[in-house]
Amino acid sequence: MSETNDILNKIENYFNYIKDKNLLIFSKEVESYEKFLNSKFEYTPQYTQNDETSQEKMSDVISEKQSDFSNIRVCDEDWKNAKTLDELKEKIEECKKCDLWKTRTNFVFGTGNPKAKVVVVGEAPGAEEDKQGKPFVGRAGQLLTQILASVGFDREEVFICNVLKSRPPENRNPLPEEIKACEPYLIKQLDIIKPKLILCVGTFAAQTLLKTKDSLGKMRGSFHTYNGIPLLVTFHPAALLRNPNWKRPTWEDVQLFKKEYDKIMAN
Ligand code: URA
Ligand code: URA
Repeated sequence: MSETNDILNKIENYFNYIKDKNLLIFSKEVESYEKFLNSKFEYTPQYTQNDETSQEKMSDVISEKQSDFSNIRVCDEDWKNAKTLDELKEKIEECKKCDLWKTRTNFVFGTGNPKAKVVVVGEAPGAEEDKQGKPFVGRAGQLLTQILASVGFDREEVFICNVLKSRPPENRNPLPEEIKACEPYLIKQLDIIKPKLILCVGTFAAQTLLKTKDSLGKMRGSFHTYNGIPLLVTFHPAALLRNPNWKRPTWEDVQLFKKEYDKIMAN
């Protein structure tokens, strides 16, 4: 009894420490505590007498001790082994690696064809995307859909996602630490999909994938490569809504993109 209480107190202190310092805890670690405590409850006679308690999970036991651990950022690196997009999504959609989880309504993983030849990468979800849990469904998204359609790409045929999977408040620019936390998910998505071409819309997507600080103006106009995959950069549709003069060059960019696509597909 006292031994178990002692252990519970130690774990509680440890969890409080994690919470106060806003550190990450790995779900594997939580699981191992759960297993350990369950085994304690099962195998320690005092506790098996109390059937209610023996069935409890660590979270219940600790909440009984009046602590609030709801803010603990549990993270799970199992996603690295995901084999499919569905599996990856399931493993990352509760992500708390940056603070954006606190304000998001939905994690916006990305949508489209899991076997897409083309992946379109944007910046981050906006209000409408956050609400629906889907990328590019607001005003800029409708424009992107039209731009893709203008060269014969259907939204359902390509895969559309963003660098950040959670909406930055007030649609502010992504912070470097947010990009750092989220970018591995994009890389994993590309790794699973293995597209033949990538279209980056806007500066952030291109700078993230190409590991550069170059301006959009510098990056536009010719193909780059990401992991051997041809990558083209064009204006962000939200930028086109603000500055219609950029529509023409964007249209030229996607023409170039389509030409390269046709060429690759013919081989
Ligand atoms: N802008 C983006 O970059 N992504 C979206 O999903 C919506 C708007
Ligand atoms: N600035 C951006 O962030 N994106 C564009 O597409 C153009 C200018």
